[in-house]
Amino acid sequence: MASCIDYRIAPLKYTGQCRIFDEVAFTSMRKVCRLVACSLDELAEIVKPGVTTNEIDRFIFAFGADHGALPADLNYRGYMHACCTSINHVVCHGIPDDKPLRNGDIVNVDVTYILDGWHGDSSRMYPIGKIKRAAERLIDVAHESLMRGISVVKPGVRTGAIGAAIQNYAEEERCSVVRDFCGHGIGQIFHDAPNILHYGEPCDGIELHKGMIFTIEPMINLGKPSVKILKDGWTAVTRDRSLSAQYEHTIRVTETGYEIFTLSPKGIFFYRT
Ligand code: MF3
Ligand code: CO
Ligand code: CO
Repeated sequence: MASCIDYRIAPLKYTGQCRIFDEVAFTSMRKVCRLVACSLDELAEIVKPGVTTNEIDRFIFAFGADHGALPADLNYRGYMHACCTSINHVVCHGIPDDKPLRNGDIVNVDVTYILDGWHGDSSRMYPIGKIKRAAERLIDVAHESLMRGISVVKPGVRTGAIGAAIQNYAEEERCSVVRDFCGHGIGQIFHDAPNILHYGEPCDGIELHKGMIFTIEPMINLGKPSVKILKDGWTAVTRDRSLSAQYEHTIRVTETGYEIFTLSPKGIFFYRT
Protein backbone atom coordinates (compact mmCIF):
# COMPACT_ATOMS: atom_id res chain seq x y z
CA MET A 1 0.00 0.00 0.00
CA ALA A 2 3.04 2.24 -0.47
CA SER A 3 1.22 4.43 -2.97
CA CYS A 4 -1.83 4.89 -0.71
CA ILE A 5 -2.39 7.37 2.08
CA ASP A 6 -5.02 7.89 4.82
CA TYR A 7 -7.11 10.79 3.47
CA ARG A 8 -7.21 12.37 6.95
CA ILE A 9 -3.48 13.13 6.87
CA ALA A 10 -3.06 13.83 3.15
CA PRO A 11 -2.79 17.40 1.83
CA LEU A 12 -6.00 18.70 0.22
CA LYS A 13 -4.49 18.83 -3.23
CA TYR A 14 -3.49 16.39 -5.96
CA THR A 15 -0.38 14.46 -4.88
CA GLY A 16 -0.50 11.43 -7.18
CA GLN A 17 -1.07 9.15 -4.19
CA CYS A 18 -4.28 7.15 -3.82
CA ARG A 19 -6.36 8.01 -0.79
CA ILE A 20 -7.97 5.44 1.50
CA PHE A 21 -11.26 6.71 2.93
CA ASP A 22 -13.31 5.74 6.01
CA GLU A 23 -16.98 5.55 7.05
CA VAL A 24 -17.05 9.30 7.80
CA ALA A 25 -16.08 9.95 4.18
CA PHE A 26 -18.50 7.31 2.85
CA THR A 27 -21.41 8.99 4.66
CA SER A 28 -20.57 12.33 3.02
CA MET A 29 -20.06 10.69 -0.38
CA ARG A 30 -23.43 8.91 -0.15
CA LYS A 31 -25.08 12.28 0.46
CA VAL A 32 -23.51 14.22 -2.42
CA CYS A 33 -23.70 11.28 -4.84
CA ARG A 34 -27.38 10.77 -4.06
CA LEU A 35 -27.99 14.43 -4.86
CA VAL A 36 -26.25 14.03 -8.23
CA ALA A 37 -28.31 10.92 -8.96
CA CYS A 38 -31.54 12.75 -7.94
CA SER A 39 -30.70 15.61 -10.32
CA LEU A 40 -30.18 13.11 -13.16
CA ASP A 41 -33.48 11.39 -12.25
CA GLU A 42 -35.26 14.77 -12.39
CA LEU A 43 -33.76 15.44 -15.82
CA ALA A 44 -35.51 12.37 -17.20
CA GLU A 45 -38.76 14.42 -17.01
CA ILE A 46 -37.24 17.61 -18.37
CA VAL A 47 -35.02 16.58 -21.28
CA LYS A 48 -37.16 16.38 -24.41
CA PRO A 49 -37.38 17.83 -27.94
CA GLY A 50 -37.26 21.66 -27.92
CA VAL A 51 -35.46 21.94 -24.57
CA THR A 52 -32.07 23.68 -24.79
CA THR A 53 -28.91 22.48 -23.09
CA ASN A 54 -28.70 25.90 -21.37
CA GLU A 55 -32.07 25.10 -19.76
CA ILE A 56 -30.62 21.81 -18.54
CA ASP A 57 -27.59 23.70 -17.24
CA ARG A 58 -29.75 26.21 -15.36
CA PHE A 59 -31.78 23.36 -13.84
CA ILE A 60 -28.59 21.66 -12.62
CA PHE A 61 -27.36 24.92 -11.04
CA ALA A 62 -30.73 25.65 -9.37
CA PHE A 63 -31.26 22.08 -8.14
CA GLY A 64 -27.81 22.14 -6.53
CA ALA A 65 -28.44 25.56 -4.95
CA ASP A 66 -31.78 24.33 -3.54
CA HIS A 67 -29.89 21.54 -1.77
CA GLY A 68 -26.81 23.49 -0.64
CA ALA A 69 -24.54 22.13 -3.37
CA LEU A 70 -22.38 23.85 -5.98
CA PRO A 71 -21.59 22.39 -9.41
CA ALA A 72 -17.90 21.46 -9.41
CA ASP A 73 -17.67 22.18 -13.16
CA LEU A 74 -18.35 25.90 -12.63
CA ASN A 75 -15.01 27.78 -12.84
CA TYR A 76 -13.14 24.47 -13.14
CA ARG A 77 -10.08 25.26 -15.30
CA GLY A 78 -12.03 28.10 -16.89
CA TYR A 79 -15.16 26.06 -17.65
CA MET A 80 -18.14 28.42 -17.21
CA HIS A 81 -21.14 26.09 -16.92
CA ALA A 82 -22.78 23.89 -14.28
CA CYS A 83 -22.63 20.65 -16.27
CA CYS A 84 -21.53 19.13 -19.56
CA THR A 85 -24.07 18.29 -22.28
CA SER A 86 -22.67 16.11 -25.05
CA ILE A 87 -24.92 15.55 -28.07
CA ASN A 88 -24.59 12.79 -30.73
CA HIS A 89 -20.96 12.75 -31.98
CA VAL A 90 -19.81 14.85 -29.02
CA VAL A 91 -17.81 12.47 -26.82
CA CYS A 92 -17.67 14.59 -23.65
CA HIS A 93 -17.32 18.16 -22.28
CA GLY A 94 -20.03 19.52 -24.57
CA ILE A 95 -20.81 23.14 -23.61
CA PRO A 96 -24.48 24.02 -22.95
CA ASP A 97 -25.97 26.51 -25.41
CA ASP A 98 -29.30 27.86 -26.70
CA LYS A 99 -29.91 25.32 -29.49
CA PRO A 100 -33.03 23.23 -28.89
CA LEU A 101 -32.59 19.45 -28.68
CA ARG A 102 -34.12 17.67 -31.65
CA ASN A 103 -36.07 14.48 -32.09
CA GLY A 104 -33.55 11.64 -32.62
CA ASP A 105 -30.66 13.27 -30.69
CA ILE A 106 -28.89 11.44 -27.89
CA VAL A 107 -27.40 13.58 -25.13
CA ASN A 108 -25.15 12.82 -22.19
CA VAL A 109 -25.54 15.04 -19.13
CA ASP A 110 -22.56 14.91 -16.76
CA VAL A 111 -23.06 16.42 -13.29
CA THR A 112 -20.63 16.88 -10.41
CA TYR A 113 -21.82 18.55 -7.21
CA ILE A 114 -19.78 19.65 -4.22
CA LEU A 115 -21.62 19.27 -0.92
CA ASP A 116 -19.87 19.92 2.42
CA GLY A 117 -16.58 19.77 0.52
CA TRP A 118 -17.22 16.34 -1.04
CA HIS A 119 -17.63 15.63 -4.78
CA GLY A 120 -20.16 13.31 -6.47
CA ASP A 121 -19.78 12.71 -10.22
CA SER A 122 -22.16 10.86 -12.55
CA SER A 123 -23.50 11.01 -16.09
CA ARG A 124 -26.27 9.37 -18.08
CA MET A 125 -27.64 9.30 -21.61
CA TYR A 126 -31.00 10.85 -22.54
CA PRO A 127 -32.74 9.94 -25.79
CA ILE A 128 -34.62 12.85 -27.37
CA GLY A 129 -37.98 11.68 -28.70
CA LYS A 130 -37.71 8.66 -30.97
CA ILE A 131 -34.10 7.64 -31.64
CA LYS A 132 -32.63 5.24 -34.21
CA ARG A 133 -31.97 1.59 -33.37
CA ALA A 134 -28.20 2.10 -33.76
CA ALA A 135 -28.29 4.92 -31.20
CA GLU A 136 -30.38 2.81 -28.84
CA ARG A 137 -27.90 -0.03 -29.13
CA LEU A 138 -24.93 2.28 -28.53
CA ILE A 139 -26.52 3.65 -25.37
CA ASP A 140 -27.12 0.11 -24.22
CA VAL A 141 -23.51 -0.91 -24.92
CA ALA A 142 -22.17 2.17 -23.08
CA HIS A 143 -24.27 1.40 -20.01
CA GLU A 144 -23.37 -2.28 -20.03
CA SER A 145 -19.68 -1.37 -20.49
CA LEU A 146 -19.81 0.72 -17.32
CA MET A 147 -21.59 -2.03 -15.36
CA ARG A 148 -19.11 -4.69 -16.56
CA GLY A 149 -16.23 -2.45 -15.50
CA ILE A 150 -17.79 -1.97 -12.06
CA SER A 151 -18.53 -5.68 -11.67
CA VAL A 152 -14.84 -6.70 -11.45
CA VAL A 153 -14.00 -4.17 -8.71
CA LYS A 154 -12.69 -5.69 -5.46
CA PRO A 155 -9.54 -5.49 -3.35
CA GLY A 156 -6.53 -7.17 -4.95
CA VAL A 157 -7.48 -6.72 -8.61
CA ARG A 158 -5.75 -4.03 -10.65
CA THR A 159 -7.32 -0.99 -12.29
CA GLY A 160 -6.47 -2.66 -15.61
CA ALA A 161 -9.09 -5.34 -14.90
CA ILE A 162 -11.75 -2.63 -15.12
CA GLY A 163 -10.40 -1.42 -18.45
CA ALA A 164 -10.12 -4.95 -19.81
CA ALA A 165 -13.72 -5.79 -18.86
CA ILE A 166 -14.97 -2.64 -20.59
CA GLN A 167 -12.84 -2.99 -23.73
CA ASN A 168 -13.56 -6.70 -24.20
CA TYR A 169 -17.29 -6.16 -24.01
CA ALA A 170 -17.45 -2.96 -26.10
CA GLU A 171 -15.30 -4.38 -28.88
CA GLU A 172 -17.22 -7.66 -28.86
CA GLU A 173 -20.24 -5.47 -29.60
CA ARG A 174 -18.34 -3.89 -32.54
CA CYS A 175 -18.02 -0.55 -30.76
CA SER A 176 -14.80 1.27 -29.78
CA VAL A 177 -13.46 2.69 -26.50
CA VAL A 178 -12.21 6.29 -26.35
CA ARG A 179 -8.61 6.39 -25.05
CA ASP A 180 -8.26 10.14 -24.43
CA PHE A 181 -10.26 10.40 -21.17
CA CYS A 182 -10.35 8.24 -18.06
CA GLY A 183 -12.11 7.72 -14.74
CA HIS A 184 -10.48 9.22 -11.68
CA GLY A 185 -10.11 9.16 -7.94
CA ILE A 186 -12.60 11.54 -6.29
CA GLY A 187 -13.54 12.76 -2.80
CA GLN A 188 -12.58 16.16 -1.45
CA ILE A 189 -10.65 16.56 -4.73
CA PHE A 190 -12.53 16.47 -8.08
CA HIS A 191 -9.91 14.69 -10.21
CA ASP A 192 -7.52 12.67 -8.07
CA ALA A 193 -5.36 9.54 -8.35
CA PRO A 194 -5.79 6.84 -9.54
CA ASN A 195 -6.55 7.12 -13.25
CA ILE A 196 -9.09 4.51 -14.33
CA LEU A 197 -8.44 3.60 -17.97
CA HIS A 198 -11.35 2.11 -19.90
CA TYR A 199 -9.14 -0.24 -21.91
CA GLY A 200 -6.11 -2.43 -21.24
CA GLU A 201 -5.11 -5.68 -19.57
CA PRO A 202 -5.95 -7.07 -16.11
CA CYS A 203 -2.24 -6.84 -15.12
CA ASP A 204 -2.10 -3.09 -15.91
CA GLY A 205 -2.38 -0.28 -13.39
CA ILE A 206 -2.35 -0.25 -9.61
CA GLU A 207 -3.90 -2.70 -7.16
CA LEU A 208 -7.30 -1.77 -5.72
CA HIS A 209 -7.64 -1.47 -1.95
CA LYS A 210 -10.65 -1.32 0.33
CA GLY A 211 -11.60 2.34 0.93
CA MET A 212 -10.60 3.71 -2.47
CA ILE A 213 -13.19 5.94 -4.17
CA PHE A 214 -13.17 6.62 -7.90
CA THR A 215 -15.29 7.09 -11.00
CA ILE A 216 -15.64 4.81 -14.01
CA GLU A 217 -16.91 6.66 -17.09
CA PRO A 218 -16.37 4.87 -20.40
CA MET A 219 -17.00 6.77 -23.63
CA ILE A 220 -18.05 4.30 -26.34
CA ASN A 221 -18.18 5.11 -30.08
CA LEU A 222 -20.10 3.44 -32.90
CA GLY A 223 -17.15 4.14 -35.20
CA LYS A 224 -13.43 4.64 -34.58
CA PRO A 225 -12.08 5.62 -31.15
CA SER A 226 -10.17 8.78 -32.07
CA VAL A 227 -11.39 12.18 -30.92
CA LYS A 228 -10.47 15.81 -31.48
CA ILE A 229 -11.07 18.92 -29.38
CA LEU A 230 -12.96 21.82 -30.99
CA LYS A 231 -11.63 25.40 -30.99
CA ASP A 232 -13.61 26.22 -27.85
CA GLY A 233 -10.96 24.20 -26.02
CA TRP A 234 -13.48 21.82 -24.42
CA THR A 235 -15.82 20.01 -26.81
CA ALA A 236 -14.45 16.55 -27.66
CA VAL A 237 -15.93 15.00 -30.81
CA THR A 238 -15.36 11.77 -32.71
CA ARG A 239 -13.00 12.38 -35.66
CA ASP A 240 -15.20 10.25 -37.92
CA ARG A 241 -18.34 12.00 -36.58
CA SER A 242 -19.77 8.66 -35.43
CA LEU A 243 -22.14 8.61 -32.46
CA SER A 244 -20.68 8.44 -28.95
CA ALA A 245 -22.28 7.52 -25.62
CA GLN A 246 -21.13 7.59 -21.99
CA TYR A 247 -22.26 6.63 -18.51
CA GLU A 248 -20.45 7.44 -15.27
CA HIS A 249 -20.75 6.27 -11.68
CA THR A 250 -18.83 7.17 -8.53
CA ILE A 251 -18.05 4.01 -6.52
CA ARG A 252 -15.99 2.75 -3.60
CA VAL A 253 -14.06 -0.46 -3.08
CA THR A 254 -15.56 -2.53 -0.24
CA GLU A 255 -14.12 -5.57 1.61
CA THR A 256 -15.47 -7.94 -1.05
CA GLY A 257 -16.46 -5.77 -4.02
CA TYR A 258 -17.92 -2.34 -4.55
CA GLU A 259 -20.63 0.13 -3.55
CA ILE A 260 -22.10 2.38 -6.26
CA PHE A 261 -22.70 5.81 -4.70
CA THR A 262 -24.54 7.35 -7.67
CA LEU A 263 -27.24 4.72 -8.28
CA SER A 264 -30.60 6.17 -9.27
CA PRO A 265 -32.92 6.51 -6.22
CA LYS A 266 -35.82 6.09 -8.67
CA GLY A 267 -34.28 2.93 -10.12
CA ILE A 268 -33.71 4.51 -13.54
CA PHE A 269 -30.74 2.46 -14.67
CA PHE A 270 -30.66 3.68 -18.20
CA TYR A 271 -33.04 5.08 -20.70
CA ARG A 272 -36.19 3.23 -21.62
CA THR A 273 -38.34 3.87 -24.67
N1 MF3 B 1 -17.61 15.59 -14.98
C1 MF3 B 1 -16.44 15.41 -15.83
C2 MF3 B 1 -15.81 14.12 -15.35
O1 MF3 B 1 -16.47 13.15 -15.40
C3 MF3 B 1 -15.51 16.55 -15.77
C4 MF3 B 1 -16.04 17.80 -16.34
S1 MF3 B 1 -14.90 19.02 -16.12
C5 MF3 B 1 -15.56 20.35 -16.90
O2 MF3 B 1 -14.75 13.99 -14.86
F1 MF3 B 1 -14.81 21.34 -16.61
F2 MF3 B 1 -15.63 20.09 -18.19
F3 MF3 B 1 -16.76 20.56 -16.46
CO1 CO C 1 -18.46 13.45 -14.79
CO1 CO D 1 -15.66 12.01 -13.75
